[in-house]
Amino acid sequence: MSLALLSLAALCWGAASLEPTIQCGSENGPSPEWKVHHALTPGDLWELRVEPVKTRVALEEYSLLMNISWILRADASIRMLKATKICVTSKSNFQSYGCVRCNYTEAFQSQTRPSGGKWTFSYTGFPIELDTVYFIGSYNIPTANMNEDGPSLSVNFTSPGCLDHIMKYKQKCIEAGSLWDPNITACKKNEKMVEVNFTTSPLGDRYMALIQSNAVLGFSTVWEKKLTRTSVVIPVTGESEGAVVQLAPYFRTCGHDCIRRKGTVVLCPKTSYHNTPDNNRRVLGDWLPLLLPALLVVTWVLVVGIYLRRRHERIKQTSFPDTTLLPPIRVLVVYPSEICFQHTVCYFTEFLQNHCRSEVILEKWQKKKIAEMGPVQWLTTQKKAADKVIFLLSNDVNTMCDGTCDNSEGSSNDNSQDLFPLAFNLFCSDLRSQTRLHKYMVVYFKEADIKDGYSALSVCPKYHLVKDATAFCRELHSKQHVSAGKRSQACHNC
Ligand SMILES: *[C@@H]1O[C@H](CO)[C@@H](O)[C@H](O)[C@H]1NC(C)=O
Ligand SMILES: *[C@@H]1O[C@H](CO)[C@@H](O)[C@H](O)[C@H]1NC(C)=O
Ligand SMILES: *[C@@H]1O[C@H](CO)[C@@H](O)[C@H](O)[C@H]1NC(C)=O
Ligand SMILES: *[C@@H]1O[C@H](CO)[C@@H](O)[C@H](O)[C@H]1NC(C)=O
Ligand SMILES: *[C@@H]1O[C@H](CO)[C@@H](O)[C@H](O)[C@H]1NC(C)=O
Repeated sequence: MSLALLSLAALCWGAASLEPTIQCGSENGPSPEWKVHHALTPGDLWELRVEPVKTRVALEEYSLLMNISWILRADASIRMLKATKICVTSKSNFQSYGCVRCNYTEAFQSQTRPSGGKWTFSYTGFPIELDTVYFIGSYNIPTANMNEDGPSLSVNFTSPGCLDHIMKYKQKCIEAGSLWDPNITACKKNEKMVEVNFTTSPLGDRYMALIQSNAVLGFSTVWEKKLTRTSVVIPVTGESEGAVVQLAPYFRTCGHDCIRRKGTVVLCPKTSYHNTPDNNRRVLGDWLPLLLPALLVVTWVLVVGIYLRRRHERIKQTSFPDTTLLPPIRVLVVYPSEICFQHTVCYFTEFLQNHCRSEVILEKWQKKKIAEMGPVQWLTTQKKAADKVIFLLSNDVNTMCDGTCDNSEGSSNDNSQDLFPLAFNLFCSDLRSQTRLHKYMVVYFKEADIKDGYSALSVCPKYHLVKDATAFCRELHSKQHVSAGKRSQACHNC
């Protein structure tokens, strides 16, 4: 390998006068040149650019790096230039910082390349995170002397998200379905039905297909674990030709936030025999006398058939309302620490998940995240992510919480922080706003006993479980899905 390189170098030596190349290595501290006084120092770079590049590190694994390229200024100071130092700072949650120093292998003999054009170099390194702002600074070495303002050039680079053609290879994006090709085809079978075909992914087991033009015309959930081509017929309530099919996958790592895909509804091709017009005419001429009575019979059979089917469908629809119609909604549940977790919160969570198609966000399950983000940040983020915020009240603490609760892992006696007063104070301004109030609900098990200090909660809709269960579920789904027009079917089994 090194022999080959050597002979290659020898070849180049012979072919052209020596052109400087770069040798880069990390140098996070100050450059040694800082300590020495230089009479003459090079100017800054003429241009500095950053773009993401992907390199394959394993069969289905990629590493996404910055390709930092720079162009040297074509002036006399280039003769002093020994190296270029580039430092990258990311302004994400945890700031990271790193520098690379690229030595030029030869002194520059000319201001431009022998072949013409400015000297251009590039370095590939520094892993890129999604949607992150990076600050890339550069300066040439030897650096300016102490107490002098050294020339430098910097750029900001904001890395794109998973939709970018390069960033989609990031592991996190792949897990959110960035490389999944559903190849959606959809066609209007008739006024009431749209057929949607797509390829499922082994990343998840559930998909929601929505047909929408201005409003949602219909939707259906598909369950499929394997990679396969699947077909679903969706009942629609309006003109579907030209409407958009939106496919929302629910994959393991991204849940609701996976990358959604779109397609367009076209007319289904007619399945008919392709006779030439000539043939058609002859056939028609020969068979017309026989055909007419036959046609009448067929039409009659069809009409009766359609009538019976419609009636059957209507019966089917009224007796089995489709609970899979509504997408689940996210609910943040806040509860005072004295409430018994095992009895009350677990029961309530189970109820929300199994009877009201909800995904529940609980402080208890996100301890690590809260520790990382801090409780205020966590609550603010969860409030934004949630469709509803429920204040769970319990007034009969003692009888609800017996010994079994204390021994268990989810006991209220661990050193968990009581997020209830914090949540209340954070969300309190929303309770005074008519437009934001709809997000909040109060649920209690025995009596609505709103404690002093939390009186602002009395403006929220209040539900007594299990008595108001059906109304509660309906209200939970109402605001979000009015457009679907099917809200009353949401919670038939509450
Ligand atoms: C670049 O040059 C400096 C100073 O001569 C040296 O300390 C450093 O190791 C060199 N770096 C590389 C990657 O060759
Ligand atoms: C980095 O960018 C430079 C300039 O655009 C280009 O010549 C070079 O091929 C790129 N490197 C990689 C690894 O893509
Ligand atoms: C980069 O962003 C920082 C703040 O984030 C700003 O102060 C600076 O001026 C920006 N630099 C450039 C070159 O846009
Ligand atoms: C998408 O599906 C259609 C119809 O099944 C098929 O003809 C086409 O080759 C598929 N395209 C890709 C990229 O898989
Ligand atoms: C869906 O797949 C079925 C079965 O392969 C096929 O008959 C139908 O034409 C396809 N429909 C669309 C809209 O691609």
